[in-house]
Amino acid sequence: MALFKKKKTDSGLPEILPEHIAFIMDGNGRWAKKRGLPRKFGHREGAKNFRRIARHCKDIGIKNITFYAFSTENWKRPKDEVDAIIELFREYIVDVRNYIGEEVRVLFLGDKSIFDADLQKKMIDLEEDTKDNHEMTMLLAINYGGRDEVVHVSKILAQKAADGELKPEDITEDMFGSYLYTKDVPDVDLMIRPSGELRLSNFLIWQSAYAEFYFTDVLWPDFSPEELEKALVNFAGRSRRFGGV
Ligand code: FPP
Repeated sequence: MALFKKKKTDSGLPEILPEHIAFIMDGNGRWAKKRGLPRKFGHREGAKNFRRIARHCKDIGIKNITFYAFSTENWKRPKDEVDAIIELFREYIVDVRNYIGEEVRVLFLGDKSIFDADLQKKMIDLEEDTKDNHEMTMLLAINYGGRDEVVHVSKILAQKAADGELKPEDITEDMFGSYLYTKDVPDVDLMIRPSGELRLSNFLIWQSAYAEFYFTDVLWPDFSPEELEKALVNFAGRSRRFGGV
């Protein structure tokens, strides 16, 4: 892969943009705490910012965006906080076309079966209704864990092998990838984590094998389009070699 040059276009954005950006929406709790508010107020601001950044990504022409809304580990949080996050999620997916517009495909990553039947139906209907939209794909990870996803795919392939549909030696990385929740989108190019934490937290572990990471101390509710532009400029200056020289 060639060395990327940081070339600014007239719009102020670099010429080379990632095809797939993943966001870990971290720092909502601290945002609220700094203001003496309960944590769920931070999630409400975080959700508003999700809407602003999703819309902005579409406006600047990013093709695939993924947001970490709720992990398989987040169930350990107090019930009222969990309920508040799921409620926000429900509110925002009902309203999705109003802020993201038509022409966006919406996909959900994670095991839906844990949610109430009506929420599961909303998610499945939204995936179905938007499946032919091509301007951008927006993926929302909810009840998602990277290890859980790898186990989920392994079980499917093990079952196929047990049923005689494939031989273990037939399994390739491409085949494995074709059973991931993200099978229809390219691997992550840019992984953004605000709030000063420097870890992946079980997010898209397979898909981020060659992602570039961008960390900032800004808390997610304050992560503005200008902060995104800084991340994009930084990304455009990286030299991506994918294991080559
Ligand atoms: C991490 O911040 C954030 C979450 C676990 C929840 C994120 C959820 C939303 C923004 C709202 C629902 C989603 C959508 C797509 C509408 P944290 O609570 O760990 O922050 P802290 O590290 O400061 O405590």
